[in-house]
Amino acid sequence: MRMISLLYPLLLIAPLAFAHGIAGIISSTSDLSTLNSIINEYPEILSALASANGTFFAPSNDALDAFISAVGGPTAVTPDAIQDLIDYHLSPLTHAAEALSTAGGALVSTRLLDEAYANLEGVANVVFASAYGSTGQDTALGALKVYSGVGESATVTRPDLEFEGGLVHVIDRVLNFPRNCTKTAEVASLSTLFEAIEKTNLTEVVDTTAKFTCFAPTNEAFAAAGIDLSALSNDQIVDALKYHSIVGDVGYSTAFEDGKEYQTLLGVPVTVHKRDGQLFINDVAVQQGNVIMSNGVAHVLSGVLTPPAGVTTASGASGTETSTAPGASGTGTAGASTAGSGAIPLRAQGFSSSDIVAALLTLYFMFA
Ligand SMILES: *[C@@H]1O[C@H](CO)[C@@H](O)[C@H](O)[C@H]1NC(C)=O
Ligand SMILES: *[C@@H]1O[C@H](CO)[C@@H](O)[C@H](O)[C@H]1NC(C)=O
Ligand SMILES: *[C@@H]1O[C@H](CO)[C@@H](O)[C@H](O)[C@H]1NC(C)=O
Repeated sequence: MRMISLLYPLLLIAPLAFAHGIAGIISSTSDLSTLNSIINEYPEILSALASANGTFFAPSNDALDAFISAVGGPTAVTPDAIQDLIDYHLSPLTHAAEALSTAGGALVSTRLLDEAYANLEGVANVVFASAYGSTGQDTALGALKVYSGVGESATVTRPDLEFEGGLVHVIDRVLNFPRNCTKTAEVASLSTLFEAIEKTNLTEVVDTTAKFTCFAPTNEAFAAAGIDLSALSNDQIVDALKYHSIVGDVGYSTAFEDGKEYQTLLGVPVTVHKRDGQLFINDVAVQQGNVIMSNGVAHVLSGVLTPPAGVTTASGASGTETSTAPGASGTGTAGASTAGSGAIPLRAQGFSSSDIVAALLTLYFMFA
């Protein structure tokens, strides 16, 4: 940090006269001087920020100091990482703070397409902005926050700094890159879930399936439900994991509609409710919503989802599942879980990569 800060007075002289757009706002805002010194070391980034339009979430000096020391000092921040970081903080569209502060919150697409982080299938990563908490369902308007990958949210401390092509919002934390499902579970201390995924060898499936929505019970939720993984067969754990998984269009809270059903990989739908200032999956409240993952989204649950009585798929040869992705319209098909023939009509409209479908089918159904 020191190194970068010391360079700042020298660097300030030249670029100031030429700084336009986002770069101009950054160079003229005292709370963004650390960011200014960093981007001035990278001419390409600087010129991109001078001409880009849209919305930039600009980490404050304190935010960048904390980030740089957390990753191990300035030398640990590579040019590629800085480029990715800038891209994840930059939306091509203009989003005023007021528009982001509407009830329910808003998804904001970013410029981050890097494969290491980007949502699979080439979709740019998103952030979720909300002044109504992580699920967008709080009853009272609060501070405008930006929810990203696993970790703390960032709060908008200075909204709406205008430049010709858009807006800059100063934020008090660096946005967290989206991680894959298992990494998210690990970093979020969801160790029971992590263990369940590892034990059933589903790591690769949950990490490499695109458009994956994961309902992630906390360790406390598993314990409160009396679930002891060592007492369960792998088939039982796989079934439980399937009931906590949706594949198709990503189930951000904004995509879920109150009262609608969404088909899980178990072939049995869950019902989403938005009421009492909370987001519910069946009757389980979401504790932390919209944890953006590189292949979808996780919603941390305060309880474990229990399929309706009588649903057993993995335990017998007769087990048959139907899995349908939730359409963008959010219409889960309640009647889709027809038990019957050995055929597996996994014809989710969300699948477009046959490799992923094949991998998923093989892994999920070799237990069936
Ligand atoms: C930003 O918008 C201006 C006009 O509104 C346009 O001339 C310019 O090319 C845009 N910049 C980028 C990088 O798209
Ligand atoms: C998930 O992410 C972690 C850390 O980023 C990485 O080490 C791991 O290989 C990834 N898992 C898969 C299956 O790609
Ligand atoms: C675990 O899954 C991977 C693919 O995801 C597969 O290659 C491997 O053979 C599996 N291991 C076991 C023990 O089933």
